[in-house]
Amino acid sequence: MIRLENICVDFGGVRAIDNVSFEVDAGRITGLIGPNGAGKTTAFNVIAGALKPTTGRVMLDGQDITHLKPHQRANRGLARTFQIPHEFSRLTVLENLMAAASAPVGENVFNVLFRRNLFVAEEREIYKTARDTVRLLELDHVRDEKAGNLSGGQKKLVELGRALMRDPKLILLDEIGAGINRTLLGKLADKIKLLNIERDLTFCLIEHDLDYVSRLCDHVFVMAQGQLLTQGSVEDVRRDERVIEAYFGGGKYEAHS
Ligand SMILES: Nc1ncnc2c1ncn2[C@@H]1O[C@H](COP(=O)(O)OP(=O)(O)OP(=O)(O)O)[C@@H](O)[C@H]1O
Ligand SMILES: [Mg+2]
Repeated sequence: MIRLENICVDFGGVRAIDNVSFEVDAGRITGLIGPNGAGKTTAFNVIAGALKPTTGRVMLDGQDITHLKPHQRANRGLARTFQIPHEFSRLTVLENLMAAASAPVGENVFNVLFRRNLFVAEEREIYKTARDTVRLLELDHVRDEKAGNLSGGQKKLVELGRALMRDPKLILLDEIGAGINRTLLGKLADKIKLLNIERDLTFCLIEHDLDYVSRLCDHVFVMAQGQLLTQGSVEDVRRDERVIEAYFGGGKYEAHS
């Protein structure tokens, strides 16, 4: 579904991503792992369009989307969550989800003034989707709570809910499980699996907890120091000496292309 081709990203003089290529297959839950500073979030920014790569191409279903803006990619079914949740703290949970819905007809002044009924119907549709999403994520009991008052784990669920509001086909999850308790983490994993199977939603997730990753992903890509180190099942890559070295060592092993 998504293919990164020979991506390089430079920040000033620093090469954050160095000639990385990988694919996220439709219908799967693919993992992206690697130590801090490996370039994982930067890779997500390149996929979502928040960052233009210095070189390389981003392909979505065989089409070059490198030049598209984030909202244009969103319109094509690409959604993401942020490593640091982006909720509107003074809006309620339900309002947060509604605010994330795709281009409502009400944005058009003509529609607002002359087609009030259409606007109301759309609002109602968005409201219904938000309510269903809140229910799906088991956030019913806090749906009228200001998002700023939620626990860290609940904010992560809202983050996922906001991504779901645009009926995407691919969701990029950036450390959505980080810092949340085991119970909620298990619940989150169940939801992701359910969405993958029942809605045929494709996921690519960044996560540091490899047990959690292995529960969800049968294929992972490993990045370290801006390069793609290796790929395979979690079981295989965690035994790989280069991966062990990347996580715990001093960079003895070179990345290979
Ligand atoms: N906007 C930026 N300006 C300058 N350097 C940046 C910027 N964003 C990221 N970097 C640098 O690029 C490298 C990769 O960062 P990135 O956030 O992609 O890593 P990561 O793999 O997501 O790490 P973590 O696991 O800690 O989230 C790091 O060295 C980081 O300091
Ligand atoms: Mg990151």
